[in-house]
Amino acid sequence: MSSDDLPSSKLGTKQHWDDVYSTELTNFEEIGDEGEIWFGEDSVEKMVDWTVDNVAASANPSILEVGSGNGSLLFALLEAGYAPDRMAGVDYSEDAVRLSTAIGTSKGEGAEKIRFSACDFLAEYPTELSVAGETGWNLVLDKGTFDAMALAEKDVTGSHPADTYPKRIAHIIRPGGYFLIVSCNFTEDELRTKFANGATGLEYHVSDVFIRR
Ligand SMILES: C[S@@+](CC[C@H](N)C(=O)[O-])C[C@H]1O[C@@H](n2cnc3c(N)ncnc32)[C@H](O)[C@@H]1O
Repeated sequence: MSSDDLPSSKLGTKQHWDDVYSTELTNFEEIGDEGEIWFGEDSVEKMVDWTVDNVAASANPSILEVGSGNGSLLFALLEAGYAPDRMAGVDYSEDAVRLSTAIGTSKGEGAEKIRFSACDFLAEYPTELSVAGETGWNLVLDKGTFDAMALAEKDVTGSHPADTYPKRIAHIIRPGGYFLIVSCNFTEDELRTKFANGATGLEYHVSDVFIRR
């Protein structure tokens, strides 16, 4: 399925995510509820397991989650031994950034060192690594973000904003680095067609994982 075959929905709008995270931030502040885990705990566990098996924490990898929401995946990677000052999450919803930052601060024990920042990934690139003098991430993660982007409306020129995403992802991965994506809107074959092609330069590695050669 192409991103432009999917009917647009409110899940493809920033307003929707701003509303979701405004509510989740209030809930966290009032009752300590950290919010929804998209696709459930199992998906977090699978992504962490794959990372542990393929991207050694001892190599001090740089890890970015695009569309990091409440930060639950990055906090799970911290628990698995990845260095918090090498991890970052970006999200275009400012309240998602406030929520994940507040959760990190309340967790402590290093979680407060994971950097969460506001970034519309389809319009700008995260700057964290350039600050550290590095030019690409060892591992880029997506859990439900491409799914959300694919539900946006086409722009005025008739092209779909999500169609630029695979190339933008490839641009920020270091040679030899990985892109790990979990999706509910696209099959493995569809992801493969979109992400592993001449335009991105990414190669398909294993189920839902792409590598930059
Ligand atoms: C289904 S949620 C998943 C959140 C998080 N990955 C998780 O698993 O809990 C999709 C996320 O993508 C973010 N998002 C959607 N479009 C984005 C964009 N253009 N730039 C950055 N974040 C975006 C939303 O704000 C939301 O946090």
